[in-house]
Amino acid sequence: MGPTLVNARQLVDTAHALVGSGKGLLAMDESNGTCNKRFAAEDIAQTEPMRRAYRELLVTTPNLGSCISGAILYDETIRQSTASGVPFATVLTEAGIVPGIKVDIGAKALAGRAGETITRGLDGLRERLSDYAAMGARFAKWRAVIALGKGLPSRACLAANAEALAGYAALCQEAGLVPIVEPEVLMAGDHDLDRCRLVTEEALHAVFAALYEQGVLLEGLILKPNMILPGLDSRLQPSADVVAAATISTLQRVVPAAVAGIAFLSGGQSAELASERLNAMNVMGKAMATRVPWPLVFSFARAIQRPALHIWNGEGDNAARAQEALFHRANCNRAALRGDYSAAMEAG
Ligand code: G3H
Repeated sequence: MGPTLVNARQLVDTAHALVGSGKGLLAMDESNGTCNKRFAAEDIAQTEPMRRAYRELLVTTPNLGSCISGAILYDETIRQSTASGVPFATVLTEAGIVPGIKVDIGAKALAGRAGETITRGLDGLRERLSDYAAMGARFAKWRAVIALGKGLPSRACLAANAEALAGYAALCQEAGLVPIVEPEVLMAGDHDLDRCRLVTEEALHAVFAALYEQGVLLEGLILKPNMILPGLDSRLQPSADVVAAATISTLQRVVPAAVAGIAFLSGGQSAELASERLNAMNVMGKAMATRVPWPLVFSFARAIQRPALHIWNGEGDNAARAQEALFHRANCNRAALRGDYSAAMEAG
């Protein structure tokens, strides 16, 4: 038996607003370090005013709320405002987009396990969650990182990260925030699709066992997994249908039907491939005799933002065109949720 949650209804309603509305999530929760790295790649100055300007561009994109149900912010971002002084969380809420917050403090080296990490951030989390809720956040995110390699991942890495994800999820629900649970099996490497499938299955199995132990309410939780893909350096790159079938069957084996929804990360795929594969999953999921029990949506960062960041390039004059590019990607991915995305949408 799990703990009694006084706010179970609120959690279920928020989760439904995020994944049950035919829209998906915009992940704009890059830490300052990651955001600066992406800016550096485009030769954009890596300063707080530039990060603020970029995030203002994202949250004020016209019509974004027609495709995006929720946006994941970062600690710096949830404290920032538009140039005219409106907090980003308020801008999002007024656009019909639920604000959320990344609450882990990053993946750190796992003791005695070269090449593996444990995600930190549980110390003081109860207090931070209550602060974020007061700033308008209604859901949260925590990302565990699982690297593939010779002898990796270890069981110790999977168990430690599953435990941390479950502890985080329980604290979120106590605070009335829907936890997004993200155990990401990385695409880096030359492994094949089957290896990704086996490791993802093992990782998810460990995560759901830990969530069960902690009494987390699955109806008030969203899973953010990787798609089942070969490594970026693998010579064998399968069709979208093969990826879709492998991803759906893996999830069916280990994810309880009670989970509110699945919101995929993009993990370094190109924007177009991420949309095509998400579309294939939704086409397949709806055609199956036993329907897939969860909404299959997106919670992309790079696969939504990358074209917009490239166009913006740190120049205010490019902001409107960058917003059009952001909206385009959000709209393509919303179409993918209905199984209506096609390459023709990319024309022009
Ligand atoms: O934690 C990672 C982000 O929320 C998703 O990022 O779509 O670029 O993999 P990505």
